[in-house]
Amino acid sequence: MFRGVSCLLILSIILSLVNGSTTSIKPNIIIILIDDMGMNDVSFHGSNQILTPNIDALAYNGVLLNKHYVPNLCTPSRATLLTGKYPIHTGMQHWVIITDEPWGLPKKERLMPELFREAGYSTHLVGKWHLGFWRQDLTPTMRGFDHHYGYYNGYIDYYDHQVRLLGTNYSAGLDFRRDFEPNPKANGTYATEAFTSEAKRIIEEHDKSKPLFMVLSHLAVHTGNEDNPMQAPEEEVAKFSHIKDPKRRTYAGMISSLDKSVGQTMRALKDNDMLNNTIVLLYSDNGAPTVGIHSNAGSNYPYRGQKESPWEGGIRSVGALWSPLLEKQGYVSNQAIHAIDWLPTLAAAAGVSLPQDLELDGENLWPSLSEKAEPKPRKFIHVLDEVFGYSSYMSDTLKYVNGSSFDGQYDYWLGDLEANEDDPLSGIYGEQVLASEVQSVLGSHGLTEDRILQMRSEATQKCPAIEGQDPLQPHYRCEPLVAPCFFDLAQDPCERYNLARLYPLQLEKLRQEVEEFRQTAIPSARVPFSDERADPIFHNGNWEWWNNTESDSSAGTCSRNLWIILGSIVALVYVNRF
Ligand SMILES: *[C@@H]1O[C@H](CO)[C@@H](O)[C@H](O)[C@H]1NC(C)=O
Ligand SMILES: *[C@@H]1O[C@H](CO)[C@@H](O)[C@H](O)[C@H]1NC(C)=O
Ligand SMILES: *[C@@H]1O[C@H](CO)[C@@H](O)[C@H](O)[C@H]1NC(C)=O
Ligand SMILES: *[C@@H]1O[C@H](CO)[C@@H](O)[C@H](O)[C@H]1NC(C)=O
Ligand SMILES: *[C@@H]1O[C@H](CO)[C@@H](O)[C@H](O)[C@H]1NC(C)=O
Repeated sequence: MFRGVSCLLILSIILSLVNGSTTSIKPNIIIILIDDMGMNDVSFHGSNQILTPNIDALAYNGVLLNKHYVPNLCTPSRATLLTGKYPIHTGMQHWVIITDEPWGLPKKERLMPELFREAGYSTHLVGKWHLGFWRQDLTPTMRGFDHHYGYYNGYIDYYDHQVRLLGTNYSAGLDFRRDFEPNPKANGTYATEAFTSEAKRIIEEHDKSKPLFMVLSHLAVHTGNEDNPMQAPEEEVAKFSHIKDPKRRTYAGMISSLDKSVGQTMRALKDNDMLNNTIVLLYSDNGAPTVGIHSNAGSNYPYRGQKESPWEGGIRSVGALWSPLLEKQGYVSNQAIHAIDWLPTLAAAAGVSLPQDLELDGENLWPSLSEKAEPKPRKFIHVLDEVFGYSSYMSDTLKYVNGSSFDGQYDYWLGDLEANEDDPLSGIYGEQVLASEVQSVLGSHGLTEDRILQMRSEATQKCPAIEGQDPLQPHYRCEPLVAPCFFDLAQDPCERYNLARLYPLQLEKLRQEVEEFRQTAIPSARVPFSDERADPIFHNGNWEWWNNTESDSSAGTCSRNLWIILGSIVALVYVNRF
């Protein structure tokens, strides 16, 4: 019998060893989320004005996501990333969460960090949240993130990390925390650098027996407060004396600091032996606001429109995916992919199994991206905002637009760059990319200047004329506030030739498809109410939750019930003992 037991013991030890060695640790997931950067504000789409060698190197070594789509605004875009659902299916489709408004991403949604944490990940958010904080249970560390270092609102001052609302009676307030604790210690540190240091610290101190899930959600290149919107370190701005417009020059400085951050983050992953089992996704939450609210002088040119508009300039975003786990690396992908797809795609790549009853709008594109499959057609509802009354929809290459935002003020081609403002180093662009921090971290893998220039040219948008057709002919005109329009992006990526008058049947078909999406939409969750109890004057000078009522969600009830059950068990045990 003794022998039998020891045999079993040995067998089980062997089994556990075998098991341990075959279950390799899941890959680390690093999502670098940029705020409000335009398609024309990285150099990998062809611009010579602001060079972004680190970001470009990441794209050229991984998959350059040339058709990456996102909702056109911060709050909806972030909700989409974390839920894998369209904003119309979470109630987040209308506008952003204004500082003093009492609403947030509904508690019934299960978020990506929650799902990854259940699968054994250590989960971190560095930087911006913007999915609600009026109740404490809506804040990131109560929504699946083990740790948060950053801010709750749409933006803060880059240096003192306060939110100041002009034209209101609110006092200025700090919006910067380490978990729940206000963090005035970083006062004076440029936000991009503060977030990068924290990301590096998390990587360095990470317990390697677990995989890491980190969203590095930058303030850059969003504006700061309205009284001082454009902020960048002087030495970064000084690199752009070739840009005449002082606003765009400062914007370039913000980008330059961000580009450095990408290099430093990749360096930290490498130095901590994590890079070879990591997936890095980098993208901008939406297009740049060239003009209007929070305009940062960014450019989506030659795409039409900008942030918060129905056009490609608002919804087509800078994107790159990098990982040694991709079968094919170093190519430009023309697979249409949307922020809804990241949850299922990253979960599949990481071997994280998702709950059966999780309803997602996105699909797993990891196999197609990894194997460089032929692009497959997709349908995306880009915008469906019943309050502002506009919609934007794509069915394969056909793009439908009805209604518009801001009375059509953003319906144009904005942000064309000045001629003769090329960075002097753009003449040796390929060399610059190869000399970047990211490239030195990754090693050359045979990437050549020729290959770089070839990929760059593939990812540079031109606006071809449809043969023999002048876009200025009246029947091509699009006035979306008057009547719906549609375009064929395959021939007309810049949305210049409205085909609605020529092909009314096709237009009707697209309208019906939008109608089908409309049937599935839930009402906007926005509570458009200015709640003065948000005033930092009541919260020790901080922007902080101002209602501590427990959530009405089933999760809350469940944990309450759990406490009741645990309490009863303890009571029973106690009674039985004595
Ligand atoms: C600010 O307070 C003053 C005085 O109470 C009031 O008249 C004014 O309407 C307030 N302004 C705003 C924007 O609430
Ligand atoms: C940040 O530091 C500046 C300069 O030292 C100081 O004037 C300001 O009050 C500080 N702000 C906060 C929010 O602590
Ligand atoms: C990654 O590199 C580390 C350190 O060099 C090594 O221990 C580990 O096995 C590597 N992992 C993979 C997946 O290659
Ligand atoms: C276009 O949008 C307007 C404004 O929301 C709406 O009234 C109209 O019904 C829409 N037209 C179509 C064809 O969907
Ligand atoms: C807090 O929010 C709940 C709704 O979630 C509301 O019923 C309650 O009145 C609020 N309490 C305060 C003090 O505002």
